Amino acid sequence: MDRDNWISAFLMLWLLICVGSSPLSVVVHASSRVGLPAVLPCSVASHLESDRKPHIQWQTISGSVFERMGQEQFQGEAYRDRVDVPEELLVRGNCSLFLQDVRFSDAGIYESYLVVGESSIKKRIFIQSVYLAVIDHKDIKSVQTGAELILDLHTHQAEQVIFQNNNETDWTVLWEKDAVIKKKGYLEKRDKKLILSNVAARSAGTYKVLDSEGLALSTVKVTVTEPVLPKETETLQIQSALGKATMSMPPLRLITLFLTLNVMLQMN
Ligand SMILES: *[C@@H]1O[C@H](CO)[C@@H](O)[C@H](O)[C@H]1NC(C)=O
Ligand SMILES: *[C@@H]1O[C@H](CO)[C@@H](O)[C@H](O)[C@H]1NC(C)=O
Repeated sequence: MDRDNWISAFLMLWLLICVGSSPLSVVVHASSRVGLPAVLPCSVASHLESDRKPHIQWQTISGSVFERMGQEQFQGEAYRDRVDVPEELLVRGNCSLFLQDVRFSDAGIYESYLVVGESSIKKRIFIQSVYLAVIDHKDIKSVQTGAELILDLHTHQAEQVIFQNNNETDWTVLWEKDAVIKKKGYLEKRDKKLILSNVAARSAGTYKVLDSEGLALSTVKVTVTEPVLPKETETLQIQSALGKATMSMPPLRLITLFLTLNVMLQMN
């Protein structure tokens, strides 16, 4: 090895040691589908001081996410009413962060710290780094002509549903949150679902549920199939069953009547 190679080998080793000892190496990965809850794991048992309530902090690079000391708590603006470290878990050393209705903007690195010491000499102990990935929903559906297509909006973050016919390149807006509901008879919203009734061949294509940023919370590919016709023998059985029900006179008597009339006409 010449001198340059020695230097680069040394640099590589140094880099490995640095990366290996930095908190980055113990980043735990968590992932959640958008709109669902997520739990960012954290355990603090070994650091707990038995005589006081644990004081835990969760933060991202952009700011504070959540803080709890006993019953006192603080929620970061972007996480209002969506975030908690349950007190009953924290006293047992479980400092996991519970996040509701996960948004794409929640993705990133979270760090938890335990605050220890008296008010004048407080110290923060780093506990855990968690990388949260937020994934969109994907689905494939097959619907029969004339049936209902049920699209899951998944979350209150849903702002718009757009549709692209299989044959076309442009998207049409099917539904918009808070828009004055145009009387589209085939479209109805129930809970967090959008229901399209009386599906036709032209309803086949791609449906996207978008959030306020225009990001796709969900993508559903829909195919439309023709209803399967009953087999021939079944059809016959259905017809004969119908015949029995509607005909008040048994077929034999009808034939007799027909013959009788014929005979009478011929005699005239
Ligand atoms: C903390 O509590 C949650 C919910 O009960 C559980 O899923 C998780 O495994 C716990 N974590 C630890 C480190 O005990
Ligand atoms: C798409 O195009 C094909 C052929 O051009 C046509 O047969 C079909 O009906 C079209 N489908 C829709 C949904 O418009």
